[in-house]
Amino acid sequence: MRTDTELAAQMMQRIDALAAISDEPGRLTRTYGSPAMRRANDLVAGWMRGAGMTVEVDPIGNLIGRYPAAKPEAKTFLLGSHLDTVRDAGKFDGALGVLVALACVQHLHETETRLPFALDIAGFADEEGARFQSTYLGSRVLAGTFDFGNLKRTDASGVTLREAILRFGGDPDALHGARLDPERLLGYAEVHIEQGPVLEEQGLPVGVVTAIAGQTRIAATLTGQAAHAGTTPMPLRRDALLAAGRLARDVETIAARHPGLLATVGQMEAPSGASNVVPGLMRMTLDVRHAEDGAREAACELLEITARFVACHRRVNLEWHTVQAERAVRCSAELTKLLKAAAAAHAPEVLELPSGAGHDAAALAAITPVAMLFVRCEDGITHHPDESVAEADALVAIRVLVRFLELLAKKHG
Ligand code: HGY
Ligand code: MN
Ligand code: MN
Repeated sequence: MRTDTELAAQMMQRIDALAAISDEPGRLTRTYGSPAMRRANDLVAGWMRGAGMTVEVDPIGNLIGRYPAAKPEAKTFLLGSHLDTVRDAGKFDGALGVLVALACVQHLHETETRLPFALDIAGFADEEGARFQSTYLGSRVLAGTFDFGNLKRTDASGVTLREAILRFGGDPDALHGARLDPERLLGYAEVHIEQGPVLEEQGLPVGVVTAIAGQTRIAATLTGQAAHAGTTPMPLRRDALLAAGRLARDVETIAARHPGLLATVGQMEAPSGASNVVPGLMRMTLDVRHAEDGAREAACELLEITARFVACHRRVNLEWHTVQAERAVRCSAELTKLLKAAAAAHAPEVLELPSGAGHDAAALAAITPVAMLFVRCEDGITHHPDESVAEADALVAIRVLVRFLELLAKKHG
């Protein structure tokens, strides 16, 4: 039987092993449906089996490990996070939640402990949306809230999500049947790197999440007129890049004027750009967040009006498409109380904090109570290769999650 210190050391080695599985040489990028995603699923599946779990991959590619309950008719508690990453990612975002959960199940397996509920771990196939610009695709399948319009979505090479699911060995027509039965589910808990500086500032290894902010993702296309850079007089141009640049500046100004609003132009491209061509086409993405749904929705309306004004002024055509809008989600008071009690046993103080980042827990909240534990993030750096979690903090997270499961077992025993 391994001690919890040994489990934490093993978990950190597994984080490194997973981080070596990438779509791109020299940096960590693991997008939905890629060969790297398959290898990551295979690696984690082997670890799950070693922890006494049975393993299956659902029709979208979510990896699901199952640890049986003491009695066969028992309900299920779900743990997990995502196994996909952003481009040039850090190694803890997503993977930490899957592997801390796995360390806990390994502890139960090695101590021959069965709980009064089955314990499943989900490694979600697509949370970041790096390939199809959409979030929570994996967890929404389990929640039964998957939007089937997403199947027509295309990646940068024109491959549809439907095709990508088929190529991965999944079944787009079986997604509906993969949803979990809320009646059989006790709840969902996710461990995640904080992705911000608060815990570090407070000198705390972990914190308990109160709510997950809503987010809207928008795709904007600006179409002007491509023209010769040497012959087209400045006043006659319909330059899509200058319109996009002006809009990006206005996005920042609007965010600065509205407290709590975060608005980001994350991607901007001139698909046919060349140094001697006036850009005729620009594509850009916009990510809008606010803790209050009403404020986020009002900001999106203002941003669209502003974009239309800029487009009109610059004589370009604007297509404005809301790709996804997610409402803010409150964590369950009951599960959070247990998680706080578990954290109090292993941390000097229990800080409650909201999450500005989206998490699979937000999708699962549609069908079951959810709770989240944040783990301290070095310098608040995330979505970047320098993302870092200390082994000592990972150990605290494992201890807290084990204690949480013990408290939950007492409640349901
Ligand atoms: O974008 C998010 O909030 C998350 O990191 N996917
Ligand atoms: Mn992320
Ligand atoms: Mn994440």
